[in-house]
Amino acid sequence: MQELKPNVYSIRAIDWDRRVFDELIPLPEGTTYNAYLVEGSEKTALLDTVDPTKTDALLGSLTASGIEKIDYVVSHHGEQDHSGSIPAILARYPKAKVVTNAKCKAMLLDLLHIDEERFITIQDGQTLSLGDKTLQFFDTPWVHWPETMVTYLAPDKILFSCDFFGSHLASSSLYVDDEPLAFESAKRYYAEIMMPFRSIIKKNLEKVGRLSIEMIAPSHGPIHDKPGYILDAYKGWVSDAVKNEVVLAYVSMHESTRLMADYFTKALIRRGIVVRQFNLAVTDLGRLAIAMVDAATIVLGSPTVLTGAHPKAAYAAFVANALRPKTRFASVIGSFGWGGKMVEQLTGLLTAMKVDVLTPVIAKGRPKDEDYLALDMLAERILAKHREIGIA
Ligand code: FEO
Repeated sequence: MQELKPNVYSIRAIDWDRRVFDELIPLPEGTTYNAYLVEGSEKTALLDTVDPTKTDALLGSLTASGIEKIDYVVSHHGEQDHSGSIPAILARYPKAKVVTNAKCKAMLLDLLHIDEERFITIQDGQTLSLGDKTLQFFDTPWVHWPETMVTYLAPDKILFSCDFFGSHLASSSLYVDDEPLAFESAKRYYAEIMMPFRSIIKKNLEKVGRLSIEMIAPSHGPIHDKPGYILDAYKGWVSDAVKNEVVLAYVSMHESTRLMADYFTKALIRRGIVVRQFNLAVTDLGRLAIAMVDAATIVLGSPTVLTGAHPKAAYAAFVANALRPKTRFASVIGSFGWGGKMVEQLTGLLTAMKVDVLTPVIAKGRPKDEDYLALDMLAERILAKHREIGIA
């Protein structure tokens, strides 16, 4: 346990080795699961637990620190990386009650089969006295799931935010000590799990913005002891503002699409547009998600395989559609040998994205002069569109 403020402690389980989350999300920097202990003059609360793979580490820390009494276990979020050790805590501390909102309670009943009598259900804005310290709870839906909530500790001005403002970043430092790395990791996390809900997150930001916050203590990654930069970063990510950037995510089998992608990249650069090119055969999905946060335009590149889109290009389209970035324009480039429905398949996967689809450029076989000319025209069209919205 490490002390943040008098009688407020962090209990972290660092997982240096974890490389994938939800069997989907790459974790290049590992992660941490952060629980917090708040000792009031009368009651003691544990805020979140840790992933079930780290239950022993949590129990070991509590034992080593001589914590003989826990009255409340505040559960901010039903997902098991934070809630999964609650049953072990309830077994170790038989008088402890789980404090959470009604939605999270329902999830914990479903996921962990906790005895219903062990719950105290709280409302948005409700307080819970620990004696000389008071916790206040705020619902912040969709900072990952619909039940997510945060806790504010008024005298110490700490916001315990769970996934909100968190990052998958294993570090021996309790606090952010490398702001660019922390920014990148937090942006990755936002892109991967929160971006689809940015309009609701905007409201959550306004809600927590009314609090006087000196420290943000998330349940993954380092603590923000200078929270201004992460609050400003979130404000930018959830805003409607897009940047003069094109995400070009492509895959190529026999070089035709790659030649087009490389030519198109240069055509965009010549026009002063930032290009973030991803070869989907080797790319890190998280890097692609980060690039989608701000870009005004996404262009998918695919050959035609078995009369349709390459599965890796279809996967990128599916992921983009699921993450619902604020992208304004989209297009497709690629190639075919004898026919197929590659373009229709890819654009058909973008149904949740409110994008203006610009005329695709598809070459028959290896690209010829007229195809390169069409790529120049697409680059010009993107520039014109970016100018229309005032970003170029
Ligand atoms: Fe870190 Fe949505 O759990």
